[in-house]
Amino acid sequence: MAKIEIKLAEIPEGKSVTFKWRGKPLFIRHRTQSEIQAEQTVAVASLRDPQHDNERVQHPEWLVVLGVCTHLGCVPIANAGDFGGYYCPCHGSHYDASGRIRKGPAPLNLEVPQHSFVNEGLLVVG
Ligand code: FES
Repeated sequence: MAKIEIKLAEIPEGKSVTFKWRGKPLFIRHRTQSEIQAEQTVAVASLRDPQHDNERVQHPEWLVVLGVCTHLGCVPIANAGDFGGYYCPCHGSHYDASGRIRKGPAPLNLEVPQHSFVNEGLLVVG
């Protein structure tokens, strides 16, 4: 299956950039220190789909998720919603900056696809 290479230097801190991968939107987010801190300290037991931030990211600065809402598949909007991560306008699902569902009808966190960091500046997804 196709892989995609992403040059991380092209994504400034605080931005989420959308790529197309295997026909789906792929979000790569360069998280800020305050986002990292906020996501690392969320009480996992309070989550609908309980996952610690560490289970979702390989490097705290980089979130890699599919841009497909787990409710009915719309594309969420970056840096929107009540939790500062992603907001799905179709029926109002709010995701945090770890891509975890926090509010609204979606049942699951945004999917983290298989990925690896080839070196400090290069990410391969797939
Ligand atoms: Fe995203 Fe329904 S498809 S909230």
